[in-house]
Amino acid sequence: MKKILFVSSEVYPLIKTGGLADVCSSLPKALTELGQDIRIIIPNYPSLKTVGDVHFLCSLRIDNHPINILETRIPDSPVVAWLVDCPELFNTTGNPYLDEQGLPWANNAERFALFCRVAVEVAMDKVNRNWKPDIVHCNDWQSGLVPALLSMEANRPKTVFTIHNMAYQGLFPVQSVYTLNLPGQLWNPNGLEFFGMLSFIKGGIAYADRITTVSPTYALEIQSPAFGYGLEGLLAHRSNNLVGIINGIDTHEWNPETDPHIHQRYSVDSLSEKLHNKTELQRRVNLPVNDSVPLLGLISRLVEQKGIDMIIECLPEMMTLPMQLVLLGNGDKVYEQRLQNIARLYPDKIVIIIDYNESLAHLIEAGSDVFLMPSRFEPCGLNQMYSQRYGTIPIVRKTGGLADTVVDTLPESLANHSATGIVFKEAHAGALLEAIKRTLLLYSNHAAWQQMQTNAMHKDFSWHRSAEQYLALYNSI
Ligand code: ADP
Ligand code: GLC
Repeated sequence: MKKILFVSSEVYPLIKTGGLADVCSSLPKALTELGQDIRIIIPNYPSLKTVGDVHFLCSLRIDNHPINILETRIPDSPVVAWLVDCPELFNTTGNPYLDEQGLPWANNAERFALFCRVAVEVAMDKVNRNWKPDIVHCNDWQSGLVPALLSMEANRPKTVFTIHNMAYQGLFPVQSVYTLNLPGQLWNPNGLEFFGMLSFIKGGIAYADRITTVSPTYALEIQSPAFGYGLEGLLAHRSNNLVGIINGIDTHEWNPETDPHIHQRYSVDSLSEKLHNKTELQRRVNLPVNDSVPLLGLISRLVEQKGIDMIIECLPEMMTLPMQLVLLGNGDKVYEQRLQNIARLYPDKIVIIIDYNESLAHLIEAGSDVFLMPSRFEPCGLNQMYSQRYGTIPIVRKTGGLADTVVDTLPESLANHSATGIVFKEAHAGALLEAIKRTLLLYSNHAAWQQMQTNAMHKDFSWHRSAEQYLALYNSI
């Protein structure tokens, strides 16, 4: 049994902005089921949605900041979470990284540096809990300083750093190195320095014993300039210690047979029941109720990564095709505005909901026929897996985890019953439109469509295999 300290800036259902939270909840649960002793450490944001008991565990002081560590559990699970309580720095409600204008909180470097330093104190059991982990597993830039700081400790635990997204690196002006009180030894081009800036993510990539990312294809992609954002050289240099492990999904949370958020539950053996969810979704979002028109769904952060610009470019021509579209998302204000402007022109065909709404997300997964995910890059992606489990055929671009989890529908893949979606290659609107047209043709072929749905619903996206891979990795260090 390994003792694992799991460091993350978001954990579902305590707080979530994207897939990071889902993974940082469901992977620890899966590791617990494999008999491991795991504690999650996360900042105690005011917006954290804890349930039940939250009690004081210990306190410590870093620089001038008094800090309490509180203990709770991830709701509906046995997994323990330690909350780093420092109201002086984590006093902001809402999004953990961005203010109301969508700009990073001005003191993000200070906030997450402090979080990392607390994680290091806990990892070295300087808080006297008589619990010292064998492995410290860090996630994304917010925890990137942990492997760097731990590298300077004797008798330290082994470190794993998981990259969920190379596009967010935690880059700050050089002055931060001094204000954050970071050890001078770490400040060099092989360390935390990145073209004259302080890079949090480099702390993970340069110093962790092992680096993982969330799909095998993305592990290769980030070693190239198009996906590495200047760190491709370092990643290639560390490739012997870099591995891609595909994310699983929480198969309890995302299960059409038991989902409390959907209108009518169904399984692969009662696929016709899925239709009731389509009707309910059309009714709920005020689209004409129509069984036979293909309904496309999209749920996403509205950012460049997700190919939203390609969707916007396609929309006028999409609206000439027999289809409806429901899009739920929020993010970049320019995309929000442009989408809403177009939607006003086609009220019978397209509905744009600018919101973050978990319950509606489940109904869209269940009620849509097709799920759109034309990402420009996608480290793993979860929604294409949720979709397949709900018999909702994903249209994805061949990149990262999308390439690894969706099998394109071609004569061969139909013949051998592996087809589960539509995959297109080029990142431009024309290619996306072709993929949509190909999907509509398939949709009109009832037998083929039903086979794709069945293939998709039979796929195993549970965490079991991937959690075993993480465990093997921990054991190999
Ligand atoms: P990313 O982490 O890059 O945003 P993922 O596909 O890994 O992409 O995970 C996104 C997660 O966030 C999914 O669980 C998805 O359902 C959820 N999500 C994104 N936007 C919304 C929204 N507007 N409302 C509800 N859930 C959302
Ligand atoms: C990131 C990626 C997404 C991935 C998620 C969880 O947010 O953008 O592709 O699924 O992390 O690993």
